[in-house]
Amino acid sequence: CGIVGYIGSRNAYDILIKGLHRLEYRGYDSAGVALINPEEKLNVYKAKGKVSDLENAAKNQDLTGTIGIAHTRWATHGEPSVRNAHPHVSESGNLAIVHNGIIENYSELREQLKAKGFHFKSDTDTEVLVQLIEYAMDKHHTNLTQSVCHALRKCVGAYAIAVIDRRNPKQIVAARKGSPLVIGVGKDNSEFLVASDASPIVEYTKNVVYIDDEQVVTAEIGKQLQIWNLDKTRANVKIDEVDMDIDMLSKGGFPHFMLKEIFDQPKVLRDCMRGRLFAKTSDEEKRSGRNNDVNDNDVVLSAVKNNKDRLMSAKRFIIVACGTSWHAGLIGKQLIERYCQIPVEVDYASEFRYRDPIIYPTDVVIAISQSGETADTLAAIELAKSKGACVFGIVNAVGSSIARQTDTGIYIHVGPEIGVASTKAFTGQLTCLTLLALCLGHCKGTISKDEYDEMIQELAVIPDKMEQVLKLNDAIKTISRTYTYATNFLYLGRGWNYPVALEGALKLKEISYIHAEGYPAAEMKHGPIALVDDRMPVLFVATHHKQYQKIVSNMEEVKARGGHIIAIITEGDTEIPKIANECIEVPQTLAPLAPLLTVIPLQLLAYHVAVCKGLNVDQPRNLAKSVTVE
Ligand code: G6P
Repeated sequence: CGIVGYIGSRNAYDILIKGLHRLEYRGYDSAGVALINPEEKLNVYKAKGKVSDLENAAKNQDLTGTIGIAHTRWATHGEPSVRNAHPHVSESGNLAIVHNGIIENYSELREQLKAKGFHFKSDTDTEVLVQLIEYAMDKHHTNLTQSVCHALRKCVGAYAIAVIDRRNPKQIVAARKGSPLVIGVGKDNSEFLVASDASPIVEYTKNVVYIDDEQVVTAEIGKQLQIWNLDKTRANVKIDEVDMDIDMLSKGGFPHFMLKEIFDQPKVLRDCMRGRLFAKTSDEEKRSGRNNDVNDNDVVLSAVKNNKDRLMSAKRFIIVACGTSWHAGLIGKQLIERYCQIPVEVDYASEFRYRDPIIYPTDVVIAISQSGETADTLAAIELAKSKGACVFGIVNAVGSSIARQTDTGIYIHVGPEIGVASTKAFTGQLTCLTLLALCLGHCKGTISKDEYDEMIQELAVIPDKMEQVLKLNDAIKTISRTYTYATNFLYLGRGWNYPVALEGALKLKEISYIHAEGYPAAEMKHGPIALVDDRMPVLFVATHHKQYQKIVSNMEEVKARGGHIIAIITEGDTEIPKIANECIEVPQTLAPLAPLLTVIPLQLLAYHVAVCKGLNVDQPRNLAKSVTVE
């Protein structure tokens, strides 16, 4: 879910709606807004569906007021409906709340409140919270901030909330635990914004305050922001400057964010490597004075430099992540094992955290996350830290919870990713993992000088090679038309390209709703081959590397059973085009870097199939970009 709140002198509704559009990637099954008008009346409008449905529902209504809160929902408790949409209003009609998270003990609290005469209009855990705040306010005769503290102390679970009181239209109270929350502070405290991330805020101010868990904030016009701990003691307010541009949040002429983000990849990977990768050809960077002490052909990561002993003495690495980030982790394992000679395990964060895993203080846990807010990954980090392991983050969202919880780490630096299906974050994660493996391997002496140099040289030209792959867009669009009929798809790859097959299948599932399975190509004969017939498209990621001949044999096996073959191959390959129905050529590169190129046609294929089917690419059904619930 996404929340946004505004208080200041401008029309709150317009700012809130714009903010909701920016946060829509976080969920879009219902939306709502609450405004206090100049007569101190609380107006609440809600709609099932997207933010645009809310705008339609609110048309011709009273949309005045300079204070309000709004919400776009990804349903947890209670089906998506107007009744369950936020904001929720308290019994007296004075308080309104928006909430992202889950109150786990809500049914118990609900029964207690019912016994005290409260009535409930929705099935949500959130309504319980607003009633609880009202109850605390009446019982203890305290102000809104203190009542929020009281109520939250009774709650088990996760939350980011914003609350307003009709009777005090100069104030918004917000709080967080486990769900993200950022406060934007306008000039001279003349206005404040509250949001799940900085994207609704940056248009108005770059000054933000990141709130910590179990903190409550009072934003009141004309006054300094106040932050309280749940025990009512005061906390320090630290204002940060957010490094995000409004241009980064627009589609830049592309029809969808996903396509823009796919095309962004060469540029953002250069950003990701800037100041970190120093190939012999690019010594301009050195002259800029930022890194006078680097040699030609070197990888410089301050996170490695500053934690050298800890990282070099690690007996084992454990990578935890979810979704696409987990796929990046599978490639990370191969990179680290190969170049650093350290055993690596890769776990789904959700499995790791509940498995009672064996974690030693000599382990390094790498948490990979685009959003930096995935609840399971955060919980896995907490667990690892409690066992004394060092936690290294590979995160895109600057200032996010995971970035702040980890002991050290590197930012992916590919800019905000808005399309729900992750694309540039994946290649950014692979780039960071490659840099990490090279840098650490070099420190440990586990990578030969030749291989180190060769990898650096090649990594430096990967963005150029990506540009070549992107030129295939039209050809892939044509190919995609053939496959809109498909109801199943197999994606097969070996070695470095096996996780790419998994990622390609995930992309197709996510946005085109075609069932797709990724498999190691050799495993095909242990099951999936039974599915192959003339209606089964099979995509092979088969670039010219070590297991090339083996994968060609797998292809023959599929062909013999009538399967329709699409192959991602290395430029100049003459063998596979004789077998496959369609071939997509990518430039030659070193095997460990192949995923950076081979994944792009798969992203484009999924995109064009979804567009051909007339589906909403940027907001696929039932998904959310940032999963802040378990
Ligand atoms: C969601 C998103 C995926 C993402 C996964 C992990 O499922 O839809 O695109 O890969 O969460 O998210 P993270 O932000 O931790 O990388």
